[in-house]
Amino acid sequence: MKILKNKNIVLGVSGGIAAYKAPELLRILQKAGATVRVVMTKNACDFISPLTFEALCGDAVLTDLFDGSYKSAIGHIDLAKECDAAVIAPATANIIAKLANGIADDALTTFMLAVKGRKIVCPSMNDAMYDNAAVKRNIIRLEADDYIIAEPSEGYLACKTEGKGRLADCDKIADKICEALTTKDLMWKKILVTAGPTREFIDPVRFISNPSSGKMGYAIADAARKRGGNVILISGPTLIEPPEGIKFIKIVSAKQMADNVFMNAQDADIIIKAAAVSDYRAEETFEHKVKKAKADRITLNFCKNTDILKKLGLNKKKGQIVVGFAAETKDLEQNAFKKLEEKNLDIIAGNIVGKPDSGFEADTNKAVLFFKSGKKEVLPLMSKDELADIILDRILKSPVA
Ligand code: PMT
Repeated sequence: MKILKNKNIVLGVSGGIAAYKAPELLRILQKAGATVRVVMTKNACDFISPLTFEALCGDAVLTDLFDGSYKSAIGHIDLAKECDAAVIAPATANIIAKLANGIADDALTTFMLAVKGRKIVCPSMNDAMYDNAAVKRNIIRLEADDYIIAEPSEGYLACKTEGKGRLADCDKIADKICEALTTKDLMWKKILVTAGPTREFIDPVRFISNPSSGKMGYAIADAARKRGGNVILISGPTLIEPPEGIKFIKIVSAKQMADNVFMNAQDADIIIKAAAVSDYRAEETFEHKVKKAKADRITLNFCKNTDILKKLGLNKKKGQIVVGFAAETKDLEQNAFKKLEEKNLDIIAGNIVGKPDSGFEADTNKAVLFFKSGKKEVLPLMSKDELADIILDRILKSPVA
């Protein structure tokens, strides 16, 4: 969301029932630091008053090309010149058809033809309409014209049917706008990311694991995808949704993680290992649940799992960048540098785990980056999304990138 700061976004509202959700989107964009102006179709004004948007954005809403009361006679052109991105939410079948055919017969469509910035369209309509061949054709046409489509979601529709046609969630739309505005500096790069914990089963109902939520690794995968990367995310069990538009491989054990990483690492340009892989697994595993024994104590023997990162680092391909994480509870610098050297890494992100706002499970992280050159960079507490982008920035500045 950082990218929205100081950006000029124009929110176009067309006449669908989901128009009532547009103020929420406006608020999310404003909260992220964007200046938002609004253009509405005549039909949209029947669903929601321009006054609502005027009150929220503190500016006049453009509804009519020939309305002398708007602040400029060619308001639609002025708005288009200034705007970094234009988003239509909701977009009806009618506005989609007009845009696909270059029709400019009202304030919104005329404005859209003049926009040079990124254009995002968020369809919202009855599921049968969304499934209609003409609508599908028009959406394909818009995509070919470089429009970004925020696909509708499935669910209960205003027409009291269930299906695909609900306006995408406002957070998802905001995310699409961020993606549209992000520089594609990882285009043509294959990026392999690992995330989440592994589970080492002892019997069918017991395993050893750790509290990794996957948030750090998923944030890296999402940031890399937004920057144009071809991303493969290999993840242990988590409760969060993987980002859209990436190849996602779900694994459980460290062995499965290793097999899948080695299978996909060969032609990766960048490998980032944020997963919390179990160092050990039970030497003996049981087919059935182990029953409580009479003895007060039992002993389990563990054997070492392959150190995936070390193997990758020591067998690095020419030009490949390998980045690790070090999860520490003390002596961060000493331990992280040791891992950087032993595993032949380009960068290692050291983070202190076991704190409420850093490491496992938190939405934020406090990391120190250690580089092959011997330099280090102490970063302040920040969101995992922000940290993900900083790691990618440093990778791109890395000597072999
Ligand atoms: O998932 P979250 O809840 O968002 O939490 C994020 C995180 C704390 C898990 C993440 O920021 C992090 O620190 N990940 C690395 C955790 C870890 O296993 O650290 P480590 O110091 O034990 O291992 C060092 C590196 O070796 C890691 O990159 C790890 O992926 C890798 N490793 C470890 C063991 C092993 N058998 N194979 C490996 O590849």
